[in-house]
Amino acid sequence: MRGLRPLQRSQGRGRQDAGLTTTPRSLIAATGSYLPERVVTNDDLAAFLDTSDAWIRDRTGIGARHVAADDEVTSDLAAAASRRALEAAGVSAASLDMIVTATVTPDSPMPACAVRLQHKLGAGKVPAFDVSAACAGFLFGLTIADQFIRAGGARRVLVVGVELLSRIIDWSDRTTAVLFGDGAGAVLVERAEPGDPRGIEACRIHSDGSLAAALEIPAGGSAEPATERGLAARRNKVHMLGQDVFRAAVRGMTDVGQEVVAAAGLTLNDVDRFVPHQANLRILQALAERWAVPLERFVLVLDETGNTSSASIPIALDRGLSDGRLCRGQRVLMSALGAGVSYGGVLARL
Ligand code: UT7
Repeated sequence: MRGLRPLQRSQGRGRQDAGLTTTPRSLIAATGSYLPERVVTNDDLAAFLDTSDAWIRDRTGIGARHVAADDEVTSDLAAAASRRALEAAGVSAASLDMIVTATVTPDSPMPACAVRLQHKLGAGKVPAFDVSAACAGFLFGLTIADQFIRAGGARRVLVVGVELLSRIIDWSDRTTAVLFGDGAGAVLVERAEPGDPRGIEACRIHSDGSLAAALEIPAGGSAEPATERGLAARRNKVHMLGQDVFRAAVRGMTDVGQEVVAAAGLTLNDVDRFVPHQANLRILQALAERWAVPLERFVLVLDETGNTSSASIPIALDRGLSDGRLCRGQRVLMSALGAGVSYGGVLARL
């Protein structure tokens, strides 16, 4: 590396402790969430699909899901959740340094959902961009925010997990239609003051493209054959090899959870609460068993929301903090796996 000087950790805005410099930490300062008003129960689905409330509850743990109104778009859901997070923190959108939106269902393929959100919130001309890592997208966004804050490139970042999955579901396919729901969760990630015990302690993110075909929307992209472009409406919807994704989720979330606590020099016994991505209760039961922790310490919203992909973790964080299942000061492990497959884990003191 001739010609390059090693990075100085004392550069930037690090904290000074007795002559030593430490990297600033980031913390989750406030949360907000939004679920569309309309609720679709399992019985509602059984009215037009060959399924039943009993099958859906037994196989997935889902009781209902929220579905956006016809005139709602993804950035509306994101804006509603974001306003609640900003209000909870008592800060304005103008104070944001960056907006990261994790979504696979933007208002339109281009531009990013995040720029529409920026405009709706009245934020300044700060960088606003989308992250496409499906159900793991929120943890990818949180990792990006943490890295920018640690590097001194931002002090306050809005990270939103938002999905309007009802628009990309084939409502005649019972193997996917019963699983998903719409919603948004937002967090404000801020630079922690020196001495604050709260903060993000470790982040780990991974992707494994060998499983790309296990959960995908096959049509609509640059790989679509010219003869089929725009013709095959069903190929524009979510297709999933459920059992392959199930196995990958149990394996990936187990491993990345252990990896991220080890990266912080801790064990799973040091974790107070678990806030995993919520696709299927059986995945979470398997996770609890493999980690040897009681399922009672998981903050679950799946029964009421279905699988909201990138929104599930921030919705659960916000719900948990408002109904007392989570408290400030607790150490929380978040982990997720989704299409890609992409997966990640973040350990944080709330
Ligand atoms: O968010 C991250 C990505 N997603 C996930 O992590 C989801 C991972 N996968 C899963 O959660 C599960 O694999 C599913 C919930 C999708 C499916 O559960 P499963 O226990 O793997 O069921 P299966 O696919 O093996 O299907 C069992 C049976 C089949 O019938 P036969 O072939 O045994 O006669 C299906 O046709 O259940 C049938 N089935 C249904 N029956 C009633 C599938 N969907 C339904 C349904 N209602 N909605």
